[in-house]
Amino acid sequence: MGFDKKILGIGAGYVGGPTMAMIAFKCPQHKVTVVDVNHDRIARWNSDKLPIYEPGLDEVVQTARGRNLFFSTDIEKGIKEHDIIFVSVNTPTKTFGDGAGMAADLQYWEKTARQISKYSDTDKIIVEKSTLPVRTAEALERILTASNRGVRFEVLSNPEFMAEGTAIRDLEEPDRILIGSRETEEGRSARDELVGIYTNWVSEERIITSNIWSSELSKLVSNAFLAQRISSINSISALCEKTEADVTEVARAVGMDSRIGPGFLNASIGFGGSCFQKDILNLVYLCRHYGLEDVADYWEGVVSINDYQKERFVHNMLSAMFNTLAGKKICLFGFAFKANTGDTRESPAIYVARRLFEEKAHVRITDPKALDNARIDLQDLSDQISYVEDPREAASGCDAIAVMTEWDMYRDLDYARIYRSMAKPAFVFDGRNILDHKGLFELGFNVYPTGKGALTHF
Ligand code: UDX
Ligand code: UDX
Repeated sequence: MGFDKKILGIGAGYVGGPTMAMIAFKCPQHKVTVVDVNHDRIARWNSDKLPIYEPGLDEVVQTARGRNLFFSTDIEKGIKEHDIIFVSVNTPTKTFGDGAGMAADLQYWEKTARQISKYSDTDKIIVEKSTLPVRTAEALERILTASNRGVRFEVLSNPEFMAEGTAIRDLEEPDRILIGSRETEEGRSARDELVGIYTNWVSEERIITSNIWSSELSKLVSNAFLAQRISSINSISALCEKTEADVTEVARAVGMDSRIGPGFLNASIGFGGSCFQKDILNLVYLCRHYGLEDVADYWEGVVSINDYQKERFVHNMLSAMFNTLAGKKICLFGFAFKANTGDTRESPAIYVARRLFEEKAHVRITDPKALDNARIDLQDLSDQISYVEDPREAASGCDAIAVMTEWDMYRDLDYARIYRSMAKPAFVFDGRNILDHKGLFELGFNVYPTGKGALTHF
């Protein structure tokens, strides 16, 4: 049986893998191939143990794989044989040269564009899935057409808004699909082709179109706005701790204003993940590039508050535990940057673990999905760090528990038993406000929530 369309995804990471799998799952009439330079990753996409943990992903991949979903390392063949190419290669923050620590590192992008240009013998639609600086499509078009062998490329911007941990639900029922194109006849026709793929499962009113630059910028701005809300509430959490206001109550009252809304107002140890910080720094860099210093300073404040919140958490631990952590055993409940993922990229837990290590504490880390990544993140630290699967066992003998990730399983552990197994006085620092603070206090713990008064026995 022939397929209607042949769709290629380049980059089989957290974005490219689930996104392409969902397209294949929903569109059995189209062939979807995902390629990646990383052989090990592709081997895992072809195995029973997928390279990323995401609730519901196994079922989606199992249904489509071998039917119309294929994973391969043959990028050249992939480019030659497919007509629509989604590019989801990574665009990390640059670590060298001009713009180091701020700008997006576009070297993988450019390399991929050159590969597409080199191996294409027929016209292609190129879809930008990765988050990119505004006006990247212009550079992409130039690279693609530089060798002009009569092949036509139409570039579209189609940013991915899914969040990790809820990727499958977000892909299946997106708030919106945004497609940016050139306002030419060819641009509109390519855009309509992409709209046609999404209408297999997304209703038309949720599919919005725009010019290509608005689409590129909207992705950066969406992430910046989401992160800004977290920094806003986290900044207020510091004030709550000084004034006996309760940040959960404040967030609830504020969020009930329909103009503000309740989402993304959970105070925390700070946001993590591969996107927020990278995208804001990228936005800041772009603003400075265009001479918009005040705008850049405004957005940079979102990252500064996030750094402040992480350090504040460690500082609160220090001052609560009599200004020294040296030799104390501290158990981190969770290491992933959020619940329901094994991803630890930019996780605030990395910062906290490193700072506790500097303070000469012994750090025990537990997490249901992220211990492998935690070991890699902290591989340069010595035997002062240990990794324990079971949270009860991890807490045993410790002076303090610090909640880093809001895993449901931490909510209803037998804390009476855990308390008995710990050194005294026993402390809980709840960086996610998920535990029953009053209940823990009554068991004997000294409890330090985020953005509300501490409950202590002294
Ligand atoms: C990343 C960024 O975090 C996100 O902002 C961007 O929008 C898309 O890329 P993610 O999927 O989480 O998202 O990154 P990652 O898991 O690192 O996946 C990228 C994949 O691209 C990797 O598997 C890598 O091997 C692959 N890749 C990279 C290529 O196939 N070719 C390259 O030249 C470079
Ligand atoms: C984010 C965006 O939500 C998504 O649209 C985009 O495509 C990629 O970046 P992700 O990073 O996967 O997704 O997760 P998200 O749920 O946004 O959480 C990011 C961080 O913010 C996590 O560390 C999370 O714990 C934290 N967070 C979130 C808070 O601290 N408080 C909140 O109220 C919400």
